Amino acid sequence: MSGKEKNDAKKGEKKHRGKRILLRTFGCQMNDRDSELVMGLLIQDGYESVERPEDADIVLFVTCSVRQKAEDKVWSEIGRVVKSHENSAGSGRKPIIGLLGCMAEEWKKEAFRKSSLIDLVVGPNDIHQIPRLLKKLEAGDERTMAVGSSRRQSAVYNTEYIAGKSHCNVIITEGCDNFCTYCIVPYVRGRERSRKEQDILAEIRELVDKGVSEITLLGQNVNSYRCGSNGFISLLKKVNDVKGVEKFDFVTSHPKDASEELFKAMSALDKCRKFLHLPVQSGSNRILKRMNRGYVREHYLELAEAARRNIPDLRMTTDVMVGFPGETDRDFEDTLNLMRTVRFQGAYIFKYSPRPGTQAAQMEDDVPMAVKRQRNQVLLELQKSLHAQQKEQRD
Ligand code: SAH
Ligand code: SF4
Ligand code: F3S
Repeated sequence: MSGKEKNDAKKGEKKHRGKRILLRTFGCQMNDRDSELVMGLLIQDGYESVERPEDADIVLFVTCSVRQKAEDKVWSEIGRVVKSHENSAGSGRKPIIGLLGCMAEEWKKEAFRKSSLIDLVVGPNDIHQIPRLLKKLEAGDERTMAVGSSRRQSAVYNTEYIAGKSHCNVIITEGCDNFCTYCIVPYVRGRERSRKEQDILAEIRELVDKGVSEITLLGQNVNSYRCGSNGFISLLKKVNDVKGVEKFDFVTSHPKDASEELFKAMSALDKCRKFLHLPVQSGSNRILKRMNRGYVREHYLELAEAARRNIPDLRMTTDVMVGFPGETDRDFEDTLNLMRTVRFQGAYIFKYSPRPGTQAAQMEDDVPMAVKRQRNQVLLELQKSLHAQQKEQRD
């Protein structure tokens, strides 16, 4: 090593002291990608990623508010991480604890009151501010917060850092305008914005240059993407044309924006995975209406049939909720029947959880927990048996 190199190495060491970061990620794929963006911003700023809480000077929690359970998990994890840090030999000081993601936007400054361990609160549209805010904390500020921006700066997507090697998520729309009555996402992620087509394609090309060959396009309502006069299908065609992309897919599609035209495009585009995640939530028209989903059961069934007809070997999955306010045995029976008709290859089943500030939170949460649990179990078993039948048919 030359003298200069040695000097540089020393400087590097010094620069990294107090700058070891651990990110803990919860929730959906949007958060997985956001964590990479945050890590990218911080690495640019001289921080270093570590794996264990004991080694970290700063622990950032990238969180989810979609159900009460998701939140409970984060509050207890924060306590656990700080404890394990305290117990480890020679660590000395409590790490800086940051609450990021959807819970940050939901709780805002109340988060500091809820947990005195938290030093930093940053909402999803303010992540560009994290390096600056960390400097304030390092300089001695006790607590700091950035929430409430209506959109994020496009520069956050120019990250050098990717966690996976061959697969990467790419955000194409942020936020959601659908206001399903049970859902907190529009409140914590803000209004729906589509990123520019050219920015998305540039990001994908860069990822390909770094060795990525598989892409998942992300949006809360991915198929309502629009850039000028170009819609989602136009973007899919362009992604299909990117050299070096071998496979791509997208989540989450909303039934009200899905069409036979989309399924035809999926079938025709050679790199597009024959995979469709199309949350139905309920098979009862009465409940769908109360959920403000914007479609009826019959429309969903037509879509599912059209998807299967146009896309041979389609893998179709869904999200279903049980115990929404007012859900009767008959409504639940409608959901079971829909599941039997569509025969999904996979289903995520959730028990309704009231979220503060949503419209449904004003409705009486009248399905007892025991009934929610039972319906959840019945659906799981039905899905299991349908899946087993499909396997038998294939073998
Ligand atoms: N944007 C996607 C997914 C949003 S959240 C969509 O429109 O489908 C993922 C899933 O969590 C939802 O599909 C829904 O089934 C479930 N979910 C959302 N809010 C919920 C709540 N308050 N209680 C229980 N499950 C919920
Ligand atoms: Fe929530 Fe509905 Fe938007 Fe999905 S479409 S994020 S369930 S409001
Ligand atoms: Fe959860 Fe936020 Fe995703 S509430 S599901 S992490 S958008």
